[in-house]
Amino acid sequence: MIDIHSHILPGMDDGAAHEADTLAMAKAAVDEGIKTIVATPHHQNGTYTNEAPIVEGAVDQTNALLHHHGIPLTVIAGQEVRVYGELLEDLKAGHLLTLHGSAYMLVEFPSNYIPRFASSLFYDLQLEGVTPIIAHPERNKVFMEKPSLLYRYIQNGALSQVTAASVTGHFGKKLQKFSLELIDHNLAHFIASDAHNTTSRGFYMDKAYNVIEQKLGRAKEMQDHAEKLIHNQPVIGDAPNEIQAKGLLHKLFNR
Ligand SMILES: [Fe+2]
Repeated sequence: MIDIHSHILPGMDDGAAHEADTLAMAKAAVDEGIKTIVATPHHQNGTYTNEAPIVEGAVDQTNALLHHHGIPLTVIAGQEVRVYGELLEDLKAGHLLTLHGSAYMLVEFPSNYIPRFASSLFYDLQLEGVTPIIAHPERNKVFMEKPSLLYRYIQNGALSQVTAASVTGHFGKKLQKFSLELIDHNLAHFIASDAHNTTSRGFYMDKAYNVIEQKLGRAKEMQDHAEKLIHNQPVIGDAPNEIQAKGLLHKLFNR
């Protein structure tokens, strides 16, 4: 199993604080059947800055640490890049990482709003050959209230990643329902843990795929997407469908 979003590197952000945490997370990942994990420390989210060379160095050190402890997990480099004004310039300057050097970048919106410049930024990113993967859209307040916005991003070529714990119901029934709805409407292409630790923000990948298989029969397809991504092969989801708003008033006020 491949996990494309995690905070497993020690001392980079609000994930693993020390090597001991990293080791505990790595063991938990292996216990779930994860063999490859993309380390995606926060970058430019207002609190943490982790530029490309720092992340790459930490990934090498972490792989050496895991090898030393006999833990069969391979860590590869990425970033969870907050959508910010200078993103494109920083990409060109070599400060940013895609996922394992592929043509896919994990991008994060603020949880309460979508910046106005995001759609033109996504367009420009794609002109540069980089496909944005929207991290956990199910946890964004704006997408929850107005899923048609996410539909537009996906229709314009972005992909998205739902968090495993959302699918399993660890973040509540409402988020679980919305997550499954996104997958069912072809508005989410990947499942990832976004694990920060082994307690409050663990992996739940195995359980999430079981839920997806049971409810929608789409676990294999989503696992294939992760496999393709790390081999930098095209990930092409089925055509997205808009989530229909429930009532007329909702429709009128959520256009
Ligand atoms: Fe994250």
